[in-house]
Formats: sequence, C-alpha cells, structure tokens
Amino acid sequence: MCGIVGYIGFREAYPIIIKGLQRLEYRGYDSAGVALLNGEMRIYKKQGKVSDLEAFVADQPTSATVGMGHTRWATHGAPSDRNSHPHTSNNGKLSIIHNGIIENYSSIKEEMIKRGHVFNSDTDTEVLIHLIEDIQEKTNQTLDESVRIALKEVVGAYAIVVISKDHPDEIIAARKGSPMVIGVGEGEYFIASDASPIIEYTKNVIFLNDSEMAIVKRDSLVIKTIDNVVQDPYIHELELQLEMIEKGGYEHFMLKEIYEQPRSIYDSMRGRINSKDGFIGLSGLNEYEEKFKNAERILIVACGTSWHAGLVAEYLIEDYARIPVEVEYASEFRYRNPIITEKDIVIAISQSGETADSLAAIELAKSKGATIFGICNVVGSSIPRASNAGAYTHAGPEIGVASTKAFTAQVTILTLLAWSIGQKKGAIKKTRLMELLSALEAIPAKVEKALQSNDEIKAIAERFKDAHNFLYLGRGYNFPVALEGALKLKEISYIHAEGYPAAEMKHGPIALIDENMPVVVVATKGTILEKIISNIQEVKARKGVIIAIVTEGDVEVRKMADYVIEIPETEECLVPLLATIPLQLLSYHIAIMRGCNVDQPRNLAKSVTVE
Ligand code: G6P
Repeated sequence: MCGIVGYIGFREAYPIIIKGLQRLEYRGYDSAGVALLNGEMRIYKKQGKVSDLEAFVADQPTSATVGMGHTRWATHGAPSDRNSHPHTSNNGKLSIIHNGIIENYSSIKEEMIKRGHVFNSDTDTEVLIHLIEDIQEKTNQTLDESVRIALKEVVGAYAIVVISKDHPDEIIAARKGSPMVIGVGEGEYFIASDASPIIEYTKNVIFLNDSEMAIVKRDSLVIKTIDNVVQDPYIHELELQLEMIEKGGYEHFMLKEIYEQPRSIYDSMRGRINSKDGFIGLSGLNEYEEKFKNAERILIVACGTSWHAGLVAEYLIEDYARIPVEVEYASEFRYRNPIITEKDIVIAISQSGETADSLAAIELAKSKGATIFGICNVVGSSIPRASNAGAYTHAGPEIGVASTKAFTAQVTILTLLAWSIGQKKGAIKKTRLMELLSALEAIPAKVEKALQSNDEIKAIAERFKDAHNFLYLGRGYNFPVALEGALKLKEISYIHAEGYPAAEMKHGPIALIDENMPVVVVATKGTILEKIISNIQEVKARKGVIIAIVTEGDVEVRKMADYVIEIPETEECLVPLLATIPLQLLSYHIAIMRGCNVDQPRNLAKSVTVE
C-alpha cells in the first residue's frame, strides 16, 4: 500500500522519482505527488495515476538533486489532490510522504489543533508533519532528532521520508511495519518501498529494519533506532536484473507473468530436487527436520491468492506427510485468540512478504512459541526476516496486481515441502518419490503446452465477457483452483464470481443457475472425476452453461460440456499447477475485452501493508 521514493545525490531527482513511482504503482495508484528541494521546496501532487502527475508537472520547474515522491492507496481520506502526499508543515518548510497508518492520529490531531496548527487534508499522515514542526519549534532540535521524538509518539505502521527547506542536503527516512530499502551509490542514496526503483543505479542496498531511521546525506548515511542507538548496517548485493521488472514486449505485466510460469516454476525447484536419486533439498528445513517430523499439526496463515496456495498445501501435506493441517485467513487468526503451542509449526505464505495481517499472525504465533516457516517471493522482505526458517519461491518480481506466477511458485514449494516431510517421516517410498519428482520436473513443459490453448480461451472469453456472474467449481486438489479462478476474474474484470466445492453447490449456489450462468468446472482426471461428472449433470439439468477444464484425451466430460479447455495429464496432486493456467488466461482476456486495467485493477493494491 503506497509506494515511496527518495533521492539525494548529484543527478536530477525528478526523473528518478517519477520512474521509481511508476515501478511502485502496483502498491497503490489513486494519487501521486513529489517534493523537490532546490533552495525552495516545490510540491506537485495530483489525484490519479503517476502519468497524470507527470502531465501536470510537464511545464513546471523540476530541477533539484534532492527530492521524494509518493503513489497512494487511500486509507484515511478519499483520493483527491488535497489528500495526496507529500504533506507540508504550516511554516511550509517541512514535508513528508508516508506509507502505513498512524493509528493514534486523531488524538495527535486534536492536540495539534489546540496548539494552533491548521490541517489541509483528511489524512492520518498530516498529523506527523505538524508534530515534527511543533517539536522543532518547541525544542529547537535538529531535523533528525525532531523526527525521532515525533516517531516515539506514533502508534501504527509507517515508512516515511521527511525533507526540510532548512536542511537542503539531508533526507530523513524511517520505518516500522512498512518496508523500506536504501540504495547505496557513490555520492548518492536512493530510498524506496522496494528495490525496483533503485536497481538501475546500484545493486547495493540496505533493508531498513523496523523502528530504525536513516539520516541520509550525499556522502554519509547514519542508521539508528528510534531509541537513538546507532546501528551498523549490512549492505546486501541484489541479484535483481532490470529486465525482470520490465514488460519485455508483452502488453501487460499480468500476461508476461502468466507466460513466465514455465520458467518461474522451474526456478522454484531449481537445485532443490533430483528425481533420479529421490532427492529434495529445502535448506530451510534442515534445522527443523525433527520439529516437522514430530509435528502434531501445521497451521498455515496467508491472505488472498497465497491463502489459496495454502489450501492446496493442506491436501498435499495431509496426503503425503500425514500431518493435520489448518489453513487460516491471517486477518481472522490474529484476532481470534487461537490455540497455539510450542509444538506447532506455522507456515506463512506471502508473495510480497509484507502483508500486514500475515506478519501480525506470525508475530502472534511466535510469541506463543510456535516455529515459523515463511514461504515468500520478495527476498529480504519482512516475513522471511520474522520467520525461523523458510524457502524463497524465486518466481522473480511479480508486478501485475493479480497474482499469477507467485501462486504456481508457492504451490511448487509447498509440494516440495509436503514430499520432503513425507520422505523424512518415511510416509513416501523412495520409488514413489522418484516418480513424483519426475512428474514435477515435467511440469514446466506441460505449463508451456497449457499456454497454447490461449486462442481457444480468448474465443470463450469473447462469448462470456458480458456475463454478470460466474461460478467456479472444483473438488479435491481442484477446489482451491476453483477459488483462485473466481478470485482472478473478480479482481481484474469486476464480474462477480464465486468459487465453490462442486458438491457443496447443491447447498446454495445451485439456486443461481440458469441459462445465463457460466459455470467453470475443473474436471480433470483423478480419483474424484466420477463425482464431479455428477455435479456437471446437476448444472446441465438446470440449463447452466459449462466451461470445463479437462485432461487431454478426455471423452466423458466433453460430452456434457459446452466448452472444453484441455490441459496435459499429470499426477493428481500437481494438477493445480496446470489447471490454474487457463483460468488465469480466461480472466485476463475477459478483463481486456471489458476495457479493464488488468495490471492495476480498481481499489486493489499488490502489497497490503495495512490491516
Ligand atoms: C493482495 C494482492 C493479492 C495477494 C494478497 C496477499 O490482495 O492483490 O494478489 O494474493 O494481497 O498478498 P501476499 O503478498 O501476502 O501474497
């Protein structure tokens, strides 16, 4: 939620900031703004996309070598010019950008109003700049000290950048609960919510820790805690390449990311398996092998698409490792007073590694002694850092707001995890494991094949693009696939869609079925196919229109379905990795045909760092 960029150095700051904001737009895109420091403080801000801001600034002076920018996902205060960041102090000397929520903003605001401050927005953020101004005026402290004292009064989450007209060669940044990366150049520093605005200038970065602040000058950087203890920062060298965050000839990031899946699935398992020896090596598991082997249950916490990956894992872990699994919405778990013991293992799944509810859920579980295993995509993000152990999915940057390749990468890692625990417990025979691993090794090529149905899927999309509702049905491993298919469609096309366990349809959704209702059924070969065929008949008897995802060579389902999309045959537990592909493409094409912005769907953000 919200992207922030800051620059101090010898280059023109404005182009760096604008380009950075465009890369961070996945984090929020309802308004944008910049502050540039060059003798005076110039602030330009606008409701709308970063491109609207750019057009607005086109004829304005922008020259400066210090500046900051923000792209917003509104929490407090509707998207508007006045609520856009940066926000300024009453004396016009200080300005701030913020990602997060200041929970005690109303009491601070009341106090500031009493002290004569005039507010110009409805945001929680603005209170902080008034507070900093007030502290400066009251105590005559330096800029960094005033920011530090102000932050001690704040309850909530933040990543902030503050600049001051009186300190033209300095930027102050701080974080608690919202991510912040500092790029270290020569005679220049970059600040951003993630590394994407930074990588074309430097690969050396510092991930600021919670409750740390940075005092950044052109030729020096001091990091200290909010409690004023100076830190010795660790400089990481990024492996991220610029091409990874560009569209590479595709019209949209989402399409590029769908098509990247043969590669990203391969990358998630690369170096981690060898089917000939029946070998699985997830290094994060090593230290916790006994713990996993003896676990009496595993809890999975996640949100959104990652929660769907967690549901697939429930089937996998129960099937292959024979450990009971509970899959929890992180947002419910954290407020439910859940029963957690030291014996529990909690797996947190998150693409961004920053989702506030997932992070809070693992903090809660940790405080009760559970072992946390994080499965995340973004290297160095908060969840892996808060976990005892884990595995990165290595899917590469996912920029489209609707998750695609991160999901299949998560499922790949969870598959390895389930099999690996099963192997360690002696629950899977070596010969069977070798078979399973070679089936997994064949998946990238089969995803490639599944992608070849694109034209047929496009034709189906054309036929159903104006539908008002969709039902997605699946059973067993394909139940989470149905949920994920429905979520993809509603996220990007704004068509109402529900995913349901196919048999459960009889207890409600069947009432919705008529000749106008497209029903997408994942009916692939497997132990439960006969049952799902009966469910298809129930839909047909009510004149529903069936779009079926079937296994190559299927004859049975084809007889009943109105439209079929084939996917290659594989092991039943691996079907989610293939069946998800046509559903991603179907949503993509429908959304495009309806004129929707698939990469930045309305009201959503990729990284939900507020609860
Ligand atoms: C947002 C995104 C989803 C994502 C969910 C969880 O809602 O739009 O695509 O699945 O957050 O995010 P995470 O980064 O924790 O996987």
